[in-house]
Formats: sequence, structure tokens, C-alpha cells
Amino acid sequence: MACSSMVKFNAAASSWIGGQHSFNQRSGSACRLPSRRVSVIRAGSYTDELVKTAKSIASPGRGILAIDESNATCGKRLASIGLDNTETNRQAYRQLLLTTPGLGEYISGAILFEETLYQSTTNGKKFVDCLRDENIVPGIKVDKGLVPLPGSNNESWCQGLDGLASRSAEYYKQGARFAKWRTVVSIPCGPSALAVKEAAWGLARYAAISQDNGLVPIVEPEILLDGDHPIERTLEVAEQVWSEVFYYLAENNVVFEGILLKPSMVTPGAEHKEKASPETIAKYTLTMLKRRVPPAVPGIMFLSGGQSEVEATLNLNAMNQSPNPWHVSFSYARALQNSVLKTWLGRPENVEAAQKALLVRAKANSLAQLGKYSAEDEGEDAKKGMFVKGYTY
Ligand code: 13P
Repeated sequence: MACSSMVKFNAAASSWIGGQHSFNQRSGSACRLPSRRVSVIRAGSYTDELVKTAKSIASPGRGILAIDESNATCGKRLASIGLDNTETNRQAYRQLLLTTPGLGEYISGAILFEETLYQSTTNGKKFVDCLRDENIVPGIKVDKGLVPLPGSNNESWCQGLDGLASRSAEYYKQGARFAKWRTVVSIPCGPSALAVKEAAWGLARYAAISQDNGLVPIVEPEILLDGDHPIERTLEVAEQVWSEVFYYLAENNVVFEGILLKPSMVTPGAEHKEKASPETIAKYTLTMLKRRVPPAVPGIMFLSGGQSEVEATLNLNAMNQSPNPWHVSFSYARALQNSVLKTWLGRPENVEAAQKALLVRAKANSLAQLGKYSAEDEGEDAKKGMFVKGYTY
């Protein structure tokens, strides 16, 4: 145990001093050779490109539009406005989002589901080209979803490593330049040491495979909002999770300058008796990140996790009131799409208004990334929470 915590310390230290040199990040064999640092040179052919892609996604005043819902989850979005879950309806919805004029001013990357990566608009223009024209980097969800983790406390693990290298190579050919893998950690279920280790190891293997195929990995261990625990407990679990994630990222020779993180904000559990202010959430979240995330990482792109649109934006704004070692921004799905869906309602005559609604949210979050957002003009709808107990993506 003492040996493993020493390795963890070394892994973190090596990345902190790593600067631009990813070859300093290796420390996996320190346990066997405690008196000598062993560096393995990682000669990934995509390294320069990965660093460039990550930097362009983490550019000032911009963040990620996450529309990578699986067909089943997209069906839930469509059902909320009375539409059937058909390929035509999914395409119409994604077309509305991805052809919004001027979106690239606020959005630097869009995470797509596989179906969308290969889809085109009704006029035959590839969605990937619509994004490129707006200077938005196309991304792809590569995990295969969550299944029960045997031997755990009713927790889950994320599938998708089998065949990932060849799938990633295909996605790159199709125009994707970054990837996303979402696994979850449940506080009310423990979390068990097994679930945390599995989540961290899976993320690290995925990150290494993605980088090997030219895709910047978004590393997303979502700590679910479920539970009645106080914010201190979330901080404790988040620190534990991110320390294991970075331990295994280092062990897998992942280039820290070529990844992006997608953490949950550190908040009290959704059923906790007291709500926390944006300032408190910012304080706890930044404390956690500063303790665990090396400055070599270019961007922290938060998920919204069931917060209302306004809450997610206010919290991001609070985190950008003073300079951070990384670009601190958004990669929201629910907190960018809710008003859009409610405005669109599946009607062609509402498309323009729905695109305007998307721009309103994207601009609000862009301002929050710059620490200049005010919620004064926000409507009541944008303030409604979207938390669903036991939410699956
Ligand atoms: P939310 O912002 O809805 O939590 O989305 C999380 C996510 O992982 C989407 O890619």
C-alpha cells in the first residue's frame, strides 16, 4: 500500500514538472525500482496534432456542445416534445443544432453519436462539414454504455474497449478529432474501491487508445448528483476518483497536454437539505481540481449533470472569476438543449427560433467561460432543474 501511494505521488509529480514533455509522465514501474526514475519515451505519431486539437477546443470564450445521446437517450429528448424516435426525427433535431448560423463563435467542439458522425443534412451536406465551416471540431462518443459491475455494490462499469482502436481509426477518417468516454461513480452506492478502480482504469485505457489513433480523449468520470450527502462528501469522493484516474493515465503513458477533462462540479447531493451557492460550488470544485489536475492539462469542460441551464451557467461563471491553470469551460448536453427542444417542438416553422435559443445558451456559457455572465435577463424556464434520479445516458 505504501508503495502504491508513492507511485501515485510520483505520477502526479512527474506530470506537474512535465511541461511540454510528455515523456516525463511515465512512472508505472517505480514500484519495482524505487530508487531510480524510469522514463519511457512515447513516440505517438499524433502527439503534435493532439496538443493542437485540445488547445483549439480549449479556446477563450468557447466550449463544447454535447449532442452524443445514444439513440435510446435521444428518444427520451424527442419524447419530451411528443416526437417518435425515428432516424428522420433524430436527423432533423441534429440538423437544427449543427446548422445554427454563428454557432462557432461560442462553440469549439461538438460531441456526436456515431449515427450523426456519418449523417448529412437533408440537403446532402455532411454534418462534419457543417461543423468545420464554423470552425467547430467534430467529436465522437466511443463508449458502449454502462452495465452492472459484478462484485460491486450495485454499481456499473463502462463497456467499449474491445475493437476501440479500429473504431477510433475509422472515426478519425470520417473527420472526428476528439472522443468521449463517460463512466459513472455513485456516491450513495459507496463508491466501492472496485468501482472506482474499474472506472479509472477503463478511462485510462480508452485515453491511450484514442491518442494512438489521433483523437483527443475527453476523460469523464461522472460523479452522479444522486444522494443526500453534503458537499464535503462529494469533494472527498471526487478527490479519490481523480487521483486514481491520473494514476492510471500516467501508467498508460497518456500525454496530458493532449487530453480534456469532463468532471462533474462538486455540489451537495441532489437530495441534500441545503443547496449550495455558485460561489461555494466554485470554491469546492476548484479546490478539488487544483489538488488533483496538473496544469499540463489544457481544458476542463464541465458536464451539467441535471442542473438547470441557469445554475450550470452561474456555477461556471463563478469558477472563472480569477485566472485558473487550465481553460475552465462547458461541455453541456441538457443545459444547452433544454430550451432548444421546448422552442422547437418538432415544428419546421420553429427551427429558426430554436436555433436562436441555442445561441442564447451558448453565448451565456461563453460569457461564463470569460467570467462575465449575469443571470438578470434569464427566463423562468431556464431556471428549472433537470435532475432525474438514477439518470442513464
Ligand atoms: P449533461 O450536460 O446533460 O450532464 O451531459 C453529460 C454528457 O456526458 C454529455 O456528453
